[in-house]
Amino acid sequence: MPLKKKYITPKKVIQPKLAPAPVVSPPKQEAEEESAPSKYPELLRGFRDILPDEQGRWNLVRDTARRFAEAYSFDRIDLPILERADLFLRTLGKGTDVVEKEMYIFTDPSNRSVALRPEATASAARAYINHGMLDRLQPVKFWYIGPMFRHDRPQAGRYRQFYQIGFESFGAQDAIVDAQLIVIGVQMFREMGLDVKVEINSIGTPECRSAYLAELVSYFRTHRAKLSEDDKRRLQKNPLRILDSKEDVTRELLKEAPQILNWLDEKSKEHFMKVLEFLEEMEVPYVLNPYLVRGLDYYSHTVFEFMLADDPMDSSQSALGGGGRYDGLVEVLGGRPTPACGFALGIERIVRALEAKGINPPERPAPRVFLAQLGDASRRVGLKLFEEFRRAGVNIVEAFGKNALKAQLESANKLGVELTLILGQKEVLDGTVIIRDMESGGQEIVDIKKVVALVQRKLAEEEVVAPAGSPVQSA
Ligand code: HAM
Repeated sequence: MPLKKKYITPKKVIQPKLAPAPVVSPPKQEAEEESAPSKYPELLRGFRDILPDEQGRWNLVRDTARRFAEAYSFDRIDLPILERADLFLRTLGKGTDVVEKEMYIFTDPSNRSVALRPEATASAARAYINHGMLDRLQPVKFWYIGPMFRHDRPQAGRYRQFYQIGFESFGAQDAIVDAQLIVIGVQMFREMGLDVKVEINSIGTPECRSAYLAELVSYFRTHRAKLSEDDKRRLQKNPLRILDSKEDVTRELLKEAPQILNWLDEKSKEHFMKVLEFLEEMEVPYVLNPYLVRGLDYYSHTVFEFMLADDPMDSSQSALGGGGRYDGLVEVLGGRPTPACGFALGIERIVRALEAKGINPPERPAPRVFLAQLGDASRRVGLKLFEEFRRAGVNIVEAFGKNALKAQLESANKLGVELTLILGQKEVLDGTVIIRDMESGGQEIVDIKKVVALVQRKLAEEEVVAPAGSPVQSA
């Protein structure tokens, strides 16, 4: 009998015993100019409404993620948006931009330091420990979707509230897990119509990384005078982060800098080679990027990012998603050492790429039937008839708020329906409905009791000629 995983929340939630939290000063938030007060309420900078017009593309991303999660047996998890600030401060890393500058951190009414989550991997690891999942059948595979918050400088594709889809796998160590996660990401993009390449690197274990960092620091010390204040601070606080630097001087110096791949121990090298072999086997287009270290400190071994294959910018700003292995994270949070790997995709960036390619699926399937009514008695009958159609699965619309038949027929025309049903006073008295074929203009009077079945038959005949509901691609 196959082993079944059950996620039953234990009666007592496990609270891991944690080492004292590192002392991290609250992030410095840049002072921001307030815009002149307006008559109407305004959005905060970096926050946005996702309007109905955009929902077709959002649905494509959300539906693809759900389908892939099901196909690869990832279980949905919903994690809180607000967490103790400490969860992120101790895991994401002291010298990282996210912790130093971008956290929405504040004291709640119970005088606790809390943060709007800047990402969800730390929360997923916390949930894995809290609910005793270390003792379940491994790997435990989660997926999530939801908003994240980073007080970064807003620009195209970078928001202060943005949405991520994440896939996380806990408890499996083998290189095939890293490779399969990358394959899942690439296939998801392909199914949405986007061509991506993977940038990939290995940052090994904390031990080999510390030997590498000593070498990196000594290299940059000889060039210290050329570095910006920010990069000097990075060099002192968290030297790995210098590889993320956007400064031109630093990027130039990096070309001659020692590369982490040369410092990997045998096991790390072997793990990485295996990941690459699996990717080759699956024909995943990848590029080795020796400077890729990702902006968060919990990673070890494989790190990767998904970029548009034909992206002219080619900067980390245009990463559609990223992830990697984080074998030390569960332990940092007080759990047993647990290998883990995952990735997250940025929905806004994917939606922007879909828009640039003219991929614009309809928000919902186009209606095929319009129900027009004339007068109160027919509205009453119409209300019921509409329910019958809905229950039968027919995609029908109405305009009960309109009175004149002309206005209703105009709506039906605009919507491009195939059939319009007309229910006037006379039809109500006779127990009939008029069916109007919108293309030919032909009309017939039918028994109201038979109208649902008749309409279904007519629509099925139409479908044989021209199948409806295929995704729309606009120029
Ligand atoms: P991340 O690289 O910080 O990784 O974010 C993942 C993706 O979220 C980025 O590649 C980007 O598409 C999107 N993103 C990040 N910041 C913004 C922003 N300000 N505005 C719009 N989109 C943004 C993580 O968050 C890790 N938790 C990923 C992970 C999962 N690693 C292992 N498991």
